[in-house]
Amino acid sequence: MTKQIIAYKAQQFTESVIRDMTRQAQLYGAINLSQGFPDFAAPEEIKLAACDAIMADVNQYAITWGAKSFRDAIAEKSSWYLGLEVDPEREITVTCGSTEAMMAAMMAIVNPGDEVIVFEPFYENYGPDAILSGATPRYVTLYAPDWHFNLDELAAAFNDNTKAIIINTPNNPTGKVFSREELQTIAELCHKWNVIAITDEIYEHILFGGKKHIAIGTLDGMRDRTITINGLSKTYSVTGWRVGYTIAPPEITLAIRKVHDFLTVGAAAPLQEAGTHALRLPRSYYDKLQADYAARRDRILGVLKDVGFRCFDPDGAYYVMTDISAFGYKDDVEFARFLVKDIGVAVVPGSSFYHEPALGRSQVRFTFCKKDETLAAAEERLQKLKSLPNRR
Ligand SMILES: Cc1ncc(COP(=O)(O)O)c(C=O)c1O
Repeated sequence: MTKQIIAYKAQQFTESVIRDMTRQAQLYGAINLSQGFPDFAAPEEIKLAACDAIMADVNQYAITWGAKSFRDAIAEKSSWYLGLEVDPEREITVTCGSTEAMMAAMMAIVNPGDEVIVFEPFYENYGPDAILSGATPRYVTLYAPDWHFNLDELAAAFNDNTKAIIINTPNNPTGKVFSREELQTIAELCHKWNVIAITDEIYEHILFGGKKHIAIGTLDGMRDRTITINGLSKTYSVTGWRVGYTIAPPEITLAIRKVHDFLTVGAAAPLQEAGTHALRLPRSYYDKLQADYAARRDRILGVLKDVGFRCFDPDGAYYVMTDISAFGYKDDVEFARFLVKDIGVAVVPGSSFYHEPALGRSQVRFTFCKKDETLAAAEERLQKLKSLPNRR
């Protein structure tokens, strides 16, 4: 008898294109503007707090759903920043990054046959998350250049089988920051169809042009039907620490905690201690983070536009989606390969953010969470695009 060794679920998705581009960047010695991790130092005080925790022998399993000090700090910060009052004993689960948070949240609520609505383009993990948890994804288009959605299309995506809608604001890859009105519209549909909002707010502090971050969990009646996902990776420039968390009503939290316990037992104990310090940094820390990212955003937009990209200016997060039509390449993958090999800059092909690769054929995504020197070096290399023979 021939056995199917590889599970159907694992056959349905490919390796991460984003993470693969990082490997290609290393292979070709390219400047890595693909994967969203900073190449600058994390804040000194939280690095010291991590070292202190290890030296103080915080080296064994933390409580599976998270060290109490860290959960308390999460509750405090959620209160002042989001306006969300959270019970750290019953509503928070600390996970291995927001990646695990999303997976645990989906596995905690999804049954076979359930549908999950995903705005498209989407952060590439949500596709495999849906497959692994057994959900059927339903895509709702965000339309460039401002990445708005069509209300009728959104309403038509909801039905009796809809279990959840995934929101990511500020958004990767588009840089969209969902407005209060948009979130209100989503909330009304969630009420109408008894749907859970799963909201990935990992870029909550990276906002431009006076945009404000609004947590859908704070809208009327949404507290009891929202799973908020967040983590240390982006706000504190520690993507390798793998510390994230969920905030959800007690009944859902119980289910998330069970899934989380058997998936990973717990996130790194000393790094949760350091996370306690991170979440209690003064508010000036976030102002500076935002100002620094605004300068990087303006810089990369200037460069990209100058060399011929059409840019969709982001309102938040640290990515720029671009249109590559001017360069005369067959598609995003061919262009990205050319960029990494011949120009020496790694980007992410747009197709990895769409369920139909053709939809992202004319786009690539740049990240700008990089040092000035890195952006300057990329700028120099990208100048070569100005003399491409096939340019339109
Ligand atoms: C929207 C979004 N969610 C989650 C993650 C992963 O976060 P973490 O490092 O907390 O797992 C990323 C990383 O790029 C992201 O862009």
